[in-house]
Amino acid sequence: MKRHKFVKLMLKRANGKPATRGEAFAPANIALCKYWGKRDADLNLPVNSSLSISLGKLGTKTVVKFAKTADRVFLNGKPAPKDFADRISKYLDLFRADGQFFEVRTKNNIPTAAGLASSASGFAALVKALDQLLGWGFNPRELSMLARLGSGSATRSLYEGFAVWHAGVRADGMDSYAESFSNAWKDLRVGILEVSNVRKKTGSTDGMNRTVETSELYEAWPAQADCDFDELRTAVAAQDFTLLGETAENNALAMHATMLAAWPPLCYWKPQTLALMQKVWQARENGLELYFTIDAGPNLKLLFLKENQAAVKKLFPKVQIVNPFSS
Ligand code: PMV
Repeated sequence: MKRHKFVKLMLKRANGKPATRGEAFAPANIALCKYWGKRDADLNLPVNSSLSISLGKLGTKTVVKFAKTADRVFLNGKPAPKDFADRISKYLDLFRADGQFFEVRTKNNIPTAAGLASSASGFAALVKALDQLLGWGFNPRELSMLARLGSGSATRSLYEGFAVWHAGVRADGMDSYAESFSNAWKDLRVGILEVSNVRKKTGSTDGMNRTVETSELYEAWPAQADCDFDELRTAVAAQDFTLLGETAENNALAMHATMLAAWPPLCYWKPQTLALMQKVWQARENGLELYFTIDAGPNLKLLFLKENQAAVKKLFPKVQIVNPFSS
């Protein structure tokens, strides 16, 4: 019920004009300092602040209209699988007036639920489209708080470039929002190495709850995350790539260490994930400045600078290279 009250309070601020349709795009984002653990599950309030980079044109486009008798949800041009449609309808319950239904058509140009953050771009695009349809007239900060209720990482997908999501301290969640951070870093590149696009068995919410409840190592996480968050803000502001890469990789591995120490143990990696990690470490030993980060899935995201793009492509021919700041 708490989240309904939060939404009610937010919607009191609405001052726009309703429309007959809403259409929006939101980029996927990759956390460099991860959100891992909730301080309030219902309001999706995180234990720690996080920092991300959005993936430019990779993300989700969503169109919303009103529907007559029931919600209709389409994913990539086809009726969405039941679990996906149910998750969207449950989210729409937060906003619907009595007897109101929606048609949601959503298209991803990234694999869904493979740890490539499509729930982040999905809920951010949906909330932007709803803002138009229902005439809220909200700013990105307000929209980020509503996206947060769909998926924590969606809080950061309202922005291009770097975003920070402030954990906040208030019990009502009104200070837990994301905002854009710092300037464009034109030479920064993200490489996506897809190991598997099969839907994962344990979703991120279950994964983080199990870790918080059972992992001794989780006790060390909030302090490390706070420290990494500060280091990464410094790295981004100063465009210090070594500090960015080292901190991001270490942050990801520390998060995965908390999962390995959970019970039952949680490991999102596949054998190929580890093989690729070792390949990155070897490349670094050979003098190539290259780092990785991994979310709650088996895929790697590489971090490197434009000057090393050709070398990275040679080592990893299947890499999908993203320039987060290309217009
Ligand atoms: O927003 P969720 O519930 O999908 O959780 C995201 C968790 C991580 O991707 C592992 C970290 C992050 O900050 O994106």
